[in-house]
Amino acid sequence: MSEPLTVVDHPLVQHKLSIMRDKGTSTASFRQLLHEITQLLAYEITRELPMTTRMIDTPMEPMDAPVLAGKKLALVSILRAGNGMLDGVLDLIPSARVGFVGLYRDETTLQPVQYYFKVPESLEDRLVIAVDPMLATGNSSAAAVDLLKQAGATNIRFLCLLAAPEGIARMQEAHPDVPIVTAAVDRGLNEQGYIMPGLGDAGDRMFGTR
Ligand code: URA
Repeated sequence: MSEPLTVVDHPLVQHKLSIMRDKGTSTASFRQLLHEITQLLAYEITRELPMTTRMIDTPMEPMDAPVLAGKKLALVSILRAGNGMLDGVLDLIPSARVGFVGLYRDETTLQPVQYYFKVPESLEDRLVIAVDPMLATGNSSAAAVDLLKQAGATNIRFLCLLAAPEGIARMQEAHPDVPIVTAAVDRGLNEQGYIMPGLGDAGDRMFGTR
């Protein structure tokens, strides 16, 4: 991708996002809307995937048909909220390999702490799409991308639902090579590191926890 930051301001995305933000939206609707928006964001983030051609036979005649080039891509969920975006991407790219990075945010320092890491093999040969709905301080996202690079990834894109300017700056400083695709950039963070106006805790809202 050529753009370092893509904000997908498509009317369907914005409408669905507004419903997600509303605190009266149910857990079931929140989950479904995240799924639907992720499909639309996935369409954008895969727009410039490298292509090649392959000879096929249509019922009418042979043709050199365009197909995706390279190894199957790797989709990496940053736990736990990233899981809510997995199926939306997999709907479009069912053959993607899937990995998980477990990081939790220390509520005092706001720094990420790793507790799980499992990713597909040959990351160096794959496009890696890391997913996490909320790019807030950017600390967890930058740490997850650090881990993916340590595991060999060289071609990473970051897909989120909402981003704060602070998180974008942090990611672009730590990983200027990683394009970010988001549905919206909000005003900023509050003292607890939550995105404002945001939508609250994405994990809690999609899993019905508190
Ligand atoms: N994580 C969330 O789920 N929400 C925020 O606003 C910030 C981080």
